[in-house]
Formats: sequence, C-alpha cells, structure tokens
Amino acid sequence: MKQSPTQVTETNSLNQPIRNRKQRRCADSFVRTTELVLPNDTNTLNNLMGGRMMHLMDVVGAICAQRFSGRTVVTASVDSISFNNSIRLGDVVTLDAQVTRSFNSSMEIHIVAYAENIPAGTRTCTNEAFFTFVAVDQSGRPIDVPEAIPETADEVRLFDGALRRRQVRLLIAKRIKPEEAQELRDYLFD
Ligand SMILES: CC(C)(COP(=O)(O)OP(=O)(O)OC[C@H]1O[C@@H](n2cnc3c(N)ncnc32)[C@H](O)[C@@H]1OP(=O)(O)O)[C@@H](O)C(=O)NCCC(=O)NCCS
Repeated sequence: MKQSPTQVTETNSLNQPIRNRKQRRCADSFVRTTELVLPNDTNTLNNLMGGRMMHLMDVVGAICAQRFSGRTVVTASVDSISFNNSIRLGDVVTLDAQVTRSFNSSMEIHIVAYAENIPAGTRTCTNEAFFTFVAVDQSGRPIDVPEAIPETADEVRLFDGALRRRQVRLLIAKRIKPEEAQELRDYLFD
C-alpha cells in the first residue's frame, strides 16, 4: 500500500524549525533485492567482483532514496564499504537498503548484503556500507526531502549516528570546517 507523507509545521528531530517539511517513516524506504551470482559477475577465483557488489549497492540505494523522497536522486558519496566475506559463484545475494536519516536534500542509506548458499543451507552477512544520495529537480538542483522518522531501536541507533557520519564525510569533502562538526567533536573528545 502506498504511504502518503504527513504534513507538519513544527520542529524536526534536530529541534530546528521545519520549512513545512513532510515526514516519512524510515521503514517506508526499505528495499530488498536478490541476485544470483553468475559467471560474468566473478573474478578468476569464482568470487563476486567487488565492483559488481558496489554497483548492486548503488542501485538498491538509489531505489531506496527515490522511494523515500519521491524524487530523482544522485549518489553524492559512499562511505567505506566492508568486504567481510567473499561471495561465491552460484550464491544468492540479498541486499537490504533503508534510509537512516535525512537532512535537507540529502539522505543517508544503510545497505547490508548477505550471501546465501542454498544447497549448503548457509547465509552470511558479507558487506555493509552507508551511501549518501541527494534528491534533485529536473535541472539537477538539490531539493528538500521529507524528514525521516525512526521507530525501532535499531533505526534510532542508526539515526543517532547519522549526524556524526555526515560531519565526517563533509569534513573529508572540505564542505565544513572542523569547528562546525560539533556533534563529532563532542563524540570524540567528551
Ligand atoms: C551531489 C550534488 C547534487 C550536490 O550539489 P551541490 O551544488 O554541491 O549542492 P549543495 O552544496 O546544496 O549540497 C546538496 C547536498 O549534498 C550534500 N553533499 C554534497 N557533497 C557531499 C558529499 N561529498 N558527501 C555527502 N554529502 C554531500 C550536501 O551536504 C547537501 O546536503 P543537505 O542538502 O542535506 O544539507 C552535486 O555535487 C552533483 O550533482 N554531483 C554529481 C552526482 C553524480 O553524478 N553522481 C553519480 C551518478 S548518480
């Protein structure tokens, strides 16, 4: 069933005035995709290529961000992607993506990948990453997205860490100065 965002006019989760922003549950953005690892996806060791995994993550993340914002989105940044376990030819790969938090035009998406060997009856968590997508208008200009509302304990934990992660990536991109990364400084030094 299609979820319609609710109109609000008060303050957001950062206690800032909302410019008449809509709200949407983080859970409403959830996307799961499944792929079978075929020979063309693998390296000479018969493992899924890292670049192929990054492509799958980018696609599932973009669908998730589009679902959340109802807009066209572009990938703005990718945090370190962990490659914990290799994925073998013939495995079934599942990718789960969900918005952790939104800011103005940007959304942080948490993506987790699992590999399933169906004959062996095993399922392993193989990869994890945070992607940032920005919603844009038809001219490619950033446009506001709904405020994300976390509900479960896991969603709240990811929501709470999202501001720090944003400050790390904006610092690295030289988009903010260290003195502007207050939450990150508090977290590291207090
Ligand atoms: C991402 C992009 C839209 C940002 O445009 P911009 O003119 O710099 O706009 P702004 O400075 O207003 O930033 C817009 C948002 O992007 C975020 N952003 C920009 N660079 C970022 C980065 N390196 N990491 C994380 N977020 C970033 C900003 O923090 C801002 O978020 P907010 O609106 O939630 O506060 C623009 O750089 C772009 O189009 N890049 C190319 C995207 C692309 O081609 N991706 C691959 C194919 S999809």
